[in-house]
Amino acid sequence: MNPEAHLRWNTDVLIIGSGAAGLRAALAASEHANVTLITKTTLTESNTHYAQGGIAVAMNLDDTIALHIKDTCAAGAGLCNVEAVEMMVSEGIPRVAELLDWGANFDWEGTLPRFTREAAHSRRRIVHKGDATGRETTDVLIQRVLNTERIHVLQNTFAIDLLTDADVESGGKDATACYGVTAIVEEQIVCIRAKTTILATGGLGRIYPCTSNPKVATGDGFAAAWRAGCEMIDMEFVQFHPTTLCLDGAPNFLISEAVRGEGGKLLSIRGERFMEKYHENGELAPRDVVSRAIQSEMDLTRFPCVFLDITHKPEEFILERFPTISDTTKRYGLNINMDLIPVRPGAHFMMGGIRTNTDTQTNLKGLYACGEVACTGVHGANRLASNSLLECLVYGARAGTNAATFAESQPAHPPTTPIPSNVGRSLAAPTDRSDNTHTEPIKAVIRETLWKNVSIERNGEGLQETLAKLQDLMESLGRVLTNPEVVDVATVEAVNMLNVALMITQSALARTESRGAHYRADFPSQDDTEWQRRILITHDNTPETISL
Ligand code: FAD
Ligand code: SIN
Repeated sequence: MNPEAHLRWNTDVLIIGSGAAGLRAALAASEHANVTLITKTTLTESNTHYAQGGIAVAMNLDDTIALHIKDTCAAGAGLCNVEAVEMMVSEGIPRVAELLDWGANFDWEGTLPRFTREAAHSRRRIVHKGDATGRETTDVLIQRVLNTERIHVLQNTFAIDLLTDADVESGGKDATACYGVTAIVEEQIVCIRAKTTILATGGLGRIYPCTSNPKVATGDGFAAAWRAGCEMIDMEFVQFHPTTLCLDGAPNFLISEAVRGEGGKLLSIRGERFMEKYHENGELAPRDVVSRAIQSEMDLTRFPCVFLDITHKPEEFILERFPTISDTTKRYGLNINMDLIPVRPGAHFMMGGIRTNTDTQTNLKGLYACGEVACTGVHGANRLASNSLLECLVYGARAGTNAATFAESQPAHPPTTPIPSNVGRSLAAPTDRSDNTHTEPIKAVIRETLWKNVSIERNGEGLQETLAKLQDLMESLGRVLTNPEVVDVATVEAVNMLNVALMITQSALARTESRGAHYRADFPSQDDTEWQRRILITHDNTPETISL
């Protein structure tokens, strides 16, 4: 068979993901090279699109870069990479200014953006568009990408695995370089070859039953990178947002921290405020503290949620400031001007990910990563609210420029690399990407065990129990990926969820202290003598600790 028959696409820079990181990377890369951007479903479907609160940026008159760095590092609980933080905060200012120049219609007050406040920020520094900042941001970036001739967009294109120079039989262990991906495109498995590849596949909230994340967030990029031999770091640090909507029949939906930033109060089912018991900053305590406090009140009162009260604010204010939350809750019979909002914590953000340097390079030559799937160490053990979109803009732009520059130095055609056996195969039946029925039971088991043992509070026994369960599942499902007859989107997603669940559980087991978002009931204190270190996990599954 002609090996080139597998070749669906050949590009200079391949970008996987259409959130803020991937879109911003595409714009930067297209200044130097031809770009192909692929995305799992539609261009607009991403965590970015649903971002509510805003973008943190040190632009307010009473703010400084130094203060923003200080707040970010304080939230990160001693594990932030300070160089990466300095870069994000200082380069963030021109990146946000540029977004405004490109037409982002954020809220203004006189001659300045209207800055709001969120937890653990010492200043009002969040620029926003009502409670739909993500939509406004993606609209602007998508429009620009679609108007750029050198960027070719492929929607409904699902990346399965990275193409590397590794011997296929070795399972990727000896990979040193990346040359693109295998992907499902129009019911066929194909190779998309690239001189450089940027992973910008976002988060993994959907591995938990309760989450703010949309359906696409199944951790695909983390898992593919890990299978290809990438170093993964800080995987124990999953951030749980304190307030996701808890209403029968309603979908996963976030109630922005900005609601508390604007004075919203948390009440137990008994109608009592409780946050003062847990932290001097009350409702604006760090996210991990608020999430644990809510969980503890839910346990104390044996009730499945607590309530958020913003009814003291004038109706016009609520409608103008929180139109998305107002509209969405209304659809489920709740009027937030008058009613309390039932909320509970949900998985929201992954601090860890593919280890990169501040140039966004991974340990595989030709592979870059940015946004939520990457880990420069900018968030440490806990992300400061609204720093993620900022990270995506700054490191997305850096990834695009660096990857394109690398591509320019490469020969016209990438070397011939081993072709996985499933490439060229048509899927047996048209894949309905929303059809999860055959994998739903296994996904449900993963979600259930993670929620029970690897969520807001962990302990050694529960983590061991989960590890054993995940390893059992891996035994049966692991073989599926190597069997080309059964590969489809839902199955690859299930394997990916299992892979990331394992990485998180193993890393959580290894960190025998509590820090930031990682709380071990059996090791409740932060231990700076032993643990101002980071946990690195690679393909062979053995977590090791490395210094900052
Ligand atoms: P995403 O925006 O998630 O984009 C990932 C892209 O990769 C998607 O297009 C997805 O379809 C694609 N993809 C995934 N897997 C594959 C695959 N196998 N093949 C092809 N494509 C794939 N942060 C803030 O800073 N401020 C906020 O106000 C804020 N609010 C938030 C509200 C919500 C509800 C959520 C969920 C998150 C919020 N965050 C916020 C976090 C922030 O939005 C995300 O961390 C950030 O947008 C991630 O951007 P990204 O580009 O890395 O990934
Ligand atoms: C929110 O609006 O509460 C989310 C903000 C964030 O995750 O940064």
